[in-house]
Amino acid sequence: MLIRDYRPADAAPLTRLFHDTIHSTGLREYSQAQVAAWSPSPPDAERWHARMSTRHTFVAEKDGGILGFAELEENGHFDMLYVAKEAIGTGVGGALCDAVETRARALGIARLFTEASKIARPVFERKGYSLIAVQSVTLNGVTLTNYRMEKPIAL
Ligand SMILES: CC(C)(COP(=O)(O)OP(=O)(O)OC[C@H]1O[C@@H](n2cnc3c(N)ncnc32)[C@H](O)[C@@H]1OP(=O)(O)O)[C@@H](O)C(=O)NCCC(=O)NCCS
Repeated sequence: MLIRDYRPADAAPLTRLFHDTIHSTGLREYSQAQVAAWSPSPPDAERWHARMSTRHTFVAEKDGGILGFAELEENGHFDMLYVAKEAIGTGVGGALCDAVETRARALGIARLFTEASKIARPVFERKGYSLIAVQSVTLNGVTLTNYRMEKPIAL
């Protein structure tokens, strides 16, 4: 597996991966109504490109196929961590977390913070993040629980 920086041609496959993962793996911890609110339809690839190209976006790839992605903002916000349903539990998410942390260290970011899903919470705990707050967020009129977590980065 290779972790590389985002390229414009990734935008469309990443929007599909996001939607498909939420509607498969997301159901492990969230209801049908909640996953439908989380991702009502695959996001618009142009809008996603506009966001991803201005952040540190990492793509996990194997044999030319995309396995997952993650995003880092320069204020330390770890936004987005999604792995293709076929690759869940095979180390892709952990490798993306490591890539984010390595880049954060290179950028001099002293603290990473995220809003982890119920599925991602144990993964972030395994990577040394602490729970700061349990949050209720309302998306498209439906309430979901997520977890504010953070990790200091030794520079
Ligand atoms: C969360 C997600 C990205 C994790 O990706 P993944 O590729 O399955 O994670 P990995 O296999 O790399 O696991 C990373 C580590 O967490 C551990 N882990 C994973 N799930 C765990 C669980 N339920 N309990 C305890 N540990 C767990 C793994 O053992 C691994 O530890 P290791 O590095 O010591 O072996 C993936 O499940 C996903 O896409 N979920 C749906 C979308 C989602 O909720 N995204 C998060 C939005 S904030």
